[in-house]
Amino acid sequence: MPLRFRLIVLVGAALLAGLVLGCAATLINASRSVQNEMRSALLVAEQTVDDVVSQIGGSRNPQRDLADLVASFKGNRHLRVSVIDNGAAEQVNPVNDHRPFGGVPRWFIRLIGVAPETHRIPVMLSGQPLGTVVIETEPRNEILEVWNELSAGLVVLVIFAAATIPLIYLSIGRALRPLDRLAAAMEQFGEGDFAIRVGDRLAPELIRLRDSFNRMAARLDAADADNRRLHEQLLTLQEEERGDIARDLHDEVGPFLFAMNVDIANAARLLKEGRAAELPSHIQSAAEAARHLQRLVRGMLGRLRPIGLAEFGLGEAVGRLVEFWRRRYPKVEYRVRIAPGCENLGEPTDTVVYRIVQECLSNALRHGKPSFIAISVDRDADGDAIVDVADDGPGLRDEPALGYGLIGMRERVTAMGGRLIFANRAAGGLSVRAWLPSPAATVAEQARAEAVR
Ligand SMILES: Nc1ncnc2c1ncn2[C@@H]1O[C@H](COP(=O)(O)OP(=O)(O)OP(=O)(O)O)[C@@H](O)[C@H]1O
Ligand SMILES: [Mg+2]
Repeated sequence: MPLRFRLIVLVGAALLAGLVLGCAATLINASRSVQNEMRSALLVAEQTVDDVVSQIGGSRNPQRDLADLVASFKGNRHLRVSVIDNGAAEQVNPVNDHRPFGGVPRWFIRLIGVAPETHRIPVMLSGQPLGTVVIETEPRNEILEVWNELSAGLVVLVIFAAATIPLIYLSIGRALRPLDRLAAAMEQFGEGDFAIRVGDRLAPELIRLRDSFNRMAARLDAADADNRRLHEQLLTLQEEERGDIARDLHDEVGPFLFAMNVDIANAARLLKEGRAAELPSHIQSAAEAARHLQRLVRGMLGRLRPIGLAEFGLGEAVGRLVEFWRRRYPKVEYRVRIAPGCENLGEPTDTVVYRIVQECLSNALRHGKPSFIAISVDRDADGDAIVDVADDGPGLRDEPALGYGLIGMRERVTAMGGRLIFANRAAGGLSVRAWLPSPAATVAEQARAEAVR
């Protein structure tokens, strides 16, 4: 059942319960007060009749006194008084008279439960019975009053409920409308529209919900944009890499294969012509071309995959990287420290460490003229790997144009659940430091994430 109807049913039930309890309390009170009213009216009447009857002996006209007595009760709302001769009608009124009266239903008279009473007071004159004074109580007037009050109260309550329930219904609808808009926004969000935001003015209780939703949407929006940018970068990088390889194949491999072909053809021709003495120079140049091709293919493979990382471990792979640059920049001092136990951090940590060192080395040498580059791989007390690469070049300019290098490093590290900071050193140069969660911690983290899912 919709919330709106549930609330209305609740309000209706509360009103009905109040009504039933109110009616019950009114009925109990009404019954008591009718009874008291009748009793006191009867007592007063008996007193009055007793007074008249006691003085009737000294009266000159007792019949008239009795007639005056009856007349004095005329118009009384609660009593009927009459005088009957002895031996006349036994009963003046039935004891339980539930005849309909003034629009009061019988069941209501029965509920009030106050029956009329009849009292008889005999009148004696000089030892002879003169007649009997009959006093009857008449509760129906009082019951009619109660009934009128109760029905007026009920009418007011019904009018109140009839006016209140639609009002409550409308205001609940109004109060719930922002939730509808939030739900619609969430649906749109679920369909991938991360740009959606809820900007309505809401009740204070819903403001937190709206703000949390907007924050979550903004974060996902940003993450989505990052993802798309990364994907585009990846495609661009792949394209560039392929372009490089195609160029190398075209410019380097093609001519050398052609040259080897020519050398071998020449050697074959010379052999056929019996000029064996000229063979060695052709065979040597073919061998040189083959060696060159070997180096080239090895270099290309190195670009595609860190050579020796899996086979020889991190220390050896970093050593090879350093050697690669030492041949080109021999004057730079390369300080490498791989702490014991960090030779093999396992995949993918090894690759990330290798890529960080590779990019930092290339950045340090491309963007500055450092006198040293210090590389350190260690573990902290929690077992997390810490990679540190520092140089004493010019350091980052105030607003460096970020390329793929620094961003890519950060993204690799973040994807592993690690952290990366780069900052200029006080002594000059740049320091890049990354914390990578230990493989054990990463496995536990993944297991936790799986469990949550
Ligand atoms: N060790 C460093 N010393 C001085 N400046 C640096 C160093 N490393 C990075 N920078 C500066 O930060 C910028 C961003 O570096 P990043 O590696 O992201 O891009 P890049 O090297 O220019 O290009 P690429 O995308 O090819 O890596 C560089 O252009 C350079 O100005
Ligand atoms: Mg770079």
